[in-house]
Amino acid sequence: MTSECDDLDDLQEQVMADARATFSEMVLDHAMRPRNVGRMPNADGFGRIKGPCGDTMEIRLRLRDEKITGVAFWTDGCGTSIAAGSMATELINGKSVTEAQRIQQEDVLNALGGLPAENEHCALLAANTVKEAIKDYLATKSAPWKRAYRKT
Ligand code: FES
Repeated sequence: MTSECDDLDDLQEQVMADARATFSEMVLDHAMRPRNVGRMPNADGFGRIKGPCGDTMEIRLRLRDEKITGVAFWTDGCGTSIAAGSMATELINGKSVTEAQRIQQEDVLNALGGLPAENEHCALLAANTVKEAIKDYLATKSAPWKRAYRKT
């Protein structure tokens, strides 16, 4: 006779086996242990985009001498959007504005070891939100007071 705990363990193993058949280890790692998640106060750059799927991603940047010294993301999206946001923050942290601005959907996908076709847009959402945050930084760096009027 199996206990409820055994049943739960079996179920958890089955769920993980299904997830491993669909997603790379890197995707699962970033989805379950996202890096740089949160909402940084008084960010130097802020981007928020709602993707066509209806999920929203936010990226906040801290910069010093045109270099990203801190980054945080938040999303109300699915596990793959969490993984994509997390990976995007890892890819740009410590980079110059110019380098970070060049981030593409493919960079996030490659770093994650790929995503199923139906989830690839999550990587696009993450890359575009990074670009939006950098655009905001560049638009407000000569007039930081404008940041007080952001809808964050
Ligand atoms: Fe919309 Fe993942 S399903 S960002």
